[in-house]
Amino acid sequence: MFSSIAKPYYYYSAAITVVGGAYLLKDYISGDFYKNTEKMTDKIVIVTGANTGIGKEVVRDLAKREAKVIMACKDMDRCENARTEIVLESMNKYVYCRKCDLASQTSIRNFVKQFKEEHDKLHVLVNNAGIMRCPKIYTEEGIEMQLGVNHMGHFLLTNLLLDTLKNSAPSRIINVSSNAHKRGKIKLKDLNNDKDYEPGEAYAQSKLAIVLFTKELAKKLNGTGVTVNAVHPGIVRTEITRYMKIYQHVLGRFFVNTFTWFFMKPPIKGAQPVLFTIMDPSLNDVTGAYIADNKISNVSDEANNQEIAKWLWLVSEKWTKLNYV
Ligand SMILES: NC(=O)c1ccc[n+]([C@@H]2O[C@H](COP(=O)([O-])OP(=O)(O)OC[C@H]3O[C@@H](n4cnc5c(N)ncnc54)[C@H](OP(=O)(O)O)[C@@H]3O)[C@@H](O)[C@H]2O)c1
Repeated sequence: MFSSIAKPYYYYSAAITVVGGAYLLKDYISGDFYKNTEKMTDKIVIVTGANTGIGKEVVRDLAKREAKVIMACKDMDRCENARTEIVLESMNKYVYCRKCDLASQTSIRNFVKQFKEEHDKLHVLVNNAGIMRCPKIYTEEGIEMQLGVNHMGHFLLTNLLLDTLKNSAPSRIINVSSNAHKRGKIKLKDLNNDKDYEPGEAYAQSKLAIVLFTKELAKKLNGTGVTVNAVHPGIVRTEITRYMKIYQHVLGRFFVNTFTWFFMKPPIKGAQPVLFTIMDPSLNDVTGAYIADNKISNVSDEANNQEIAKWLWLVSEKWTKLNYV
């Protein structure tokens, strides 16, 4: 049907169509950009784990909307590199780096002390920092690292900032969770995973803990003008995989990245559900919800268990010495 000269062009154009189509389809399934153009001028926002991945993209967007953003990070060099890039791009000089290592309750308390000396308002707290599938390691206080950083650290940080959030109402708390919470179980007899540690299980437990925390806190904040919601950002290509063995080898990384390219969002797309939860007016009165794909979504049965939520709250208070220090 094709002459021998026309054949290569046929193959080239077919290949270009397939690749172009794949890009368009990937872009489509990775979700929309948050389209609301509202400014955040003079709004004060804290984002934890803001030096890379989803958190960094959230800060970049908020900086362009003229918010004052505090990047709460554990590594000041990585934070400063990200901040410089964002300030130059957004032309917003009100982006600050502040030390907050969520694996140290002393660091969290110092961060809050400094924040309160510098600001008297807080409109949005984004509990984004996270660690996944790390080996069995512990926070400064001996809490298993994933539970300690992902849940306990944010539990303490949030509770220490509640007075300022209430003074700034309407204000929002956004807890970055994950659909992985649906595989999670709260180990009532071994919450700290001391007897039996499986990294994926511990991650799922920590993300379930965040959803339970969100729901319990929403009840406590009823009538204060402070809302709290959890959000699933989707499957996003970030450094969250840094502890997974396959990602630690160049070839492994290459193969996984190639095979998962189609399904994984870039960080900027992963930030969009978080931005939606931070700003969308449709969520003004929504609290205690789990947001996925920009809508209120179902959580696992265990995430709806109020007895476990209450139990976890009491344990979290004790382990973070919330009411003692
Ligand atoms: N990527 C996904 O597919 C996906 C899916 C569902 C949910 N999530 C959630 O999305 C959130 C953001 O993750 P990401 O994908 O953007 O991962 P990422 O690129 O690895 O970013 C994680 C951030 O958390 C910070 N962090 C880790 N340990 C910390 C600590 N002890 N104190 C303070 N900050 C700490 C990291 O700081 P350093 O860089 O200094 O270590 C980094 O800034 C996490 O809560 C994650 O569980 C991600």
